Amino acid sequence: MRFLPLLSSLAGLALLPLLGACGGGEALPKEIVVGQYGSLTGAQATFGISTRNGIELATDELNAAGGIGGVKVRMVVEDDQGKPEEAATAVSKIISQDRPVAVLGEVASTNSLAAAPLLQTNGIPMISPSSTNPKVTEQGDFIFRVCFIDPFQGGAVAKFAYNSKGLRNVGILKAVDADYAVGLAQFFTDTFTKLGGTIAGEEAYKLSDVDFKAQLTSLLAKNPDALFIPGYYTDVGLIARQARDLGFKGPFLGGDGWDSSELTKIGGDAIIGSFFTNHYAVDDPNPVVQGFIEKYNAKFHEKPDGLAALGYDSARVLYGAMAEVAKDPKMADALSDRSSVPATEDARKAARAALRDAIAKTAGFGGVTGTISIDAQRNAQKPAVVVQVTAEGNKFVESIAP
Ligand code: PHE
Repeated sequence: MRFLPLLSSLAGLALLPLLGACGGGEALPKEIVVGQYGSLTGAQATFGISTRNGIELATDELNAAGGIGGVKVRMVVEDDQGKPEEAATAVSKIISQDRPVAVLGEVASTNSLAAAPLLQTNGIPMISPSSTNPKVTEQGDFIFRVCFIDPFQGGAVAKFAYNSKGLRNVGILKAVDADYAVGLAQFFTDTFTKLGGTIAGEEAYKLSDVDFKAQLTSLLAKNPDALFIPGYYTDVGLIARQARDLGFKGPFLGGDGWDSSELTKIGGDAIIGSFFTNHYAVDDPNPVVQGFIEKYNAKFHEKPDGLAALGYDSARVLYGAMAEVAKDPKMADALSDRSSVPATEDARKAARAALRDAIAKTAGFGGVTGTISIDAQRNAQKPAVVVQVTAEGNKFVESIAP
């Protein structure tokens, strides 16, 4: 078999003129690489897909307008199946293969928590569009988000339950392996009991569970007025059906994790009439919101959910910061790849640190999901909306200020 290496090197030689012919010896155009990791498949697939679509819309708009100082942004997207181990793997792969200057993601807080330390250690800015658990941005000074956090969201849904709905005795069923659900259950409880309400009982499940009858039976035995379910849409839909099968007639309440067009497909009639807190409402008459919906609908032929809106906002905040950094030609050069004189690793590191500083300075940025100002903890303080699930889609009920 000694002729094999010879053969393959001959094949390589034969290819050279071909490559030369199509490449024409010209360098590929410069580009700026940005990564996204998210759940494109799995039980939270609409989270990753909607986010990707929102980011894609923002990126296409940026590139059509000339990119960053004439250099186009190229998105690299990795599927993590909605699993924390895969989120870490996806981000390692993006870091080593694509050398991104920044990464957008994840949606579910547990997945953001799994990958954020890798980005922090490598000095690569990360912006989570939608992870609301407080711990996410505590991972380090390179980790940002453009959404509100759960102490606020849990308080908002508790106030809505107590003040607007007159509920006094609420049962909780939470996903124990989702940092988001565990945190939100606690923050809801803190505010609801402070207001004078009672937690009838609290039960737990795991994200892969499909049978919630045992937990529901013991919760319903305590006669709650309502059930608070701080989970994700797939579980919530199944829980609502099973609770109705067991004879529960009260309302269901939840948080942003319910936001998916799949919720009513999975939950059917059982989930109709329920309420949840969210980042945005499709029926908000604000022209900024309606303009976004129109553009998104033209491209993807569906109405955007909150994830799409947050994905769009996260990318635009990032591109705004990039444009600031790129005002310095040396920094602009270090942000982009494929320069004729490739930037040194030190220069790239400095550019990413400048990008971190520019993101941190974001103030009064007009997003689809509200005005975004990044605070000292790298979070955004924004109002929440309460929406009601109806057969025709989610309907705006009220807005809750931070
Ligand atoms: N806030 C959720 C989390 O942190 C993710 C989410 C955001 C889901 C917005 C749906 C809509 O896990």
